[in-house]
Amino acid sequence: MYYPQFRARRIRGKEVFRNMVRETSLSAHDLIYPMFSAFGKGIKKEISSMPGIYQQSIEHIVEEAQEVHELGVPAVILFGIPETKDAVGSDAYSDTGIIQETIRALKKQVPGLAVITDVCLCEYTDHGHCGVIRDGDVDNDATLELLAKEALSHARAGADMVAPSDMMDGRVMAIREILDENAFHDIPIMSYAVKYASGYYGPFREAAESTPQFGDRRSYQMDPANRLEAVREAQMDIEEGADLIMVKPGLPYLDIVRDMRNEFTLPLAVYNVSGEYSMVKAAAQKGWIDEERVVMETMMSFKRAGANLILTYHAKDVARILKRG
Ligand code: PBG
Ligand code: ZN
Repeated sequence: MYYPQFRARRIRGKEVFRNMVRETSLSAHDLIYPMFSAFGKGIKKEISSMPGIYQQSIEHIVEEAQEVHELGVPAVILFGIPETKDAVGSDAYSDTGIIQETIRALKKQVPGLAVITDVCLCEYTDHGHCGVIRDGDVDNDATLELLAKEALSHARAGADMVAPSDMMDGRVMAIREILDENAFHDIPIMSYAVKYASGYYGPFREAAESTPQFGDRRSYQMDPANRLEAVREAQMDIEEGADLIMVKPGLPYLDIVRDMRNEFTLPLAVYNVSGEYSMVKAAAQKGWIDEERVVMETMMSFKRAGANLILTYHAKDVARILKRG
C-alpha cells in the first residue's frame, strides 16, 4: 500500500478515530507510588532534587497514602529512613523498625491500599551497601539470611507484597522459603530482577540516605552494557519463585522491558527512577518542556514497551490527569 491509494493521515484526522485506533492504554491501576517513611514525629521534608517528594514521619505518610488511595492508585512501595543504622542493618528486620511501624499504621488507617515493601539493607546499614560486608565487598550468602528475615518481618507487620531490590543471588528463593515456612504462602514477591548499576539513582540516595560510604554497587547490580544477562537474571528469579518481575531504571532501558515482555509471561513492572523524575521536574521548572505532556508520553512509552505496572514518583499527577480526562 502506497501513497496516494493509502494515506496514513486519514485515520489521524479526527479525534474520534484517534481514540478508536489507539494501541496502548494507561490507567491509574497501572501505577505504584514510592514513599519514604522517616523515623520521628512531625517530619515532612522535601527532597531537594525531587520536588513534591518528601521524607515524612508516619502520620504524614498515612495522610498522603489516603490521598493516593482516593486518586485510584492501588499501591505504594515503602522505603525507610531508620532512627539508627549499623553494620548489619538491624532496623530492617526489627519488628519495631520504621517500615514495620509504617505498614501497621497504613493497614489500619488506609486498609484498601496495597502496601508493597522494598526489601534491601542499604537504607539501614551505616556503610550504605545492600548487604553485609566481608573483605571489602558485599557477602552474598550472609546477606540472604538477613533479607529473608526482613521480608518475613514485613509480612508479619501486614505487608501485602515484598519487593527485594538488593540483587543478591538466591534472594527470591530464600524469601519464598521463609515466607512459606511461616504460612505467608499467599504473599507475592515482586523481584527487582533486572536492576542496573545506574547514575539515575542519585536523587534517591539523598531521599533514602543510602549512598554507599565506599566503592559502588557494581559488584552486585548489572552492567548497563548488558542485554542478554537481563534474560538470565529474570529467568533465575522466576525459577526461584518470583510472582512479578521488574526492570530498573525505566526510560534508558525500554529495550530490556520489551525483551522481558517477549521472553516471559509474568506480570512486568518498570521503575521510573528518581533521576528520571528529577530531570523532568528540572526541565519543567525552567520552562523547557511541557511537564504534563512529557510525563504522560513517558508513561505511555512504558506501557508500549510491554510493562504492566509502573513505579513512579509522578503517580499522583498521572492519576489526577487521567481522572480529569
Ligand atoms: C535500594 C534501592 C535503590 C532504588 C530502589 N531501591 C537505590 C540503589 O540501588 O542504589 C532506586 C530508586 C530510585 O532511584 O528512584 N536498593
Ligand atoms: Zn539496596
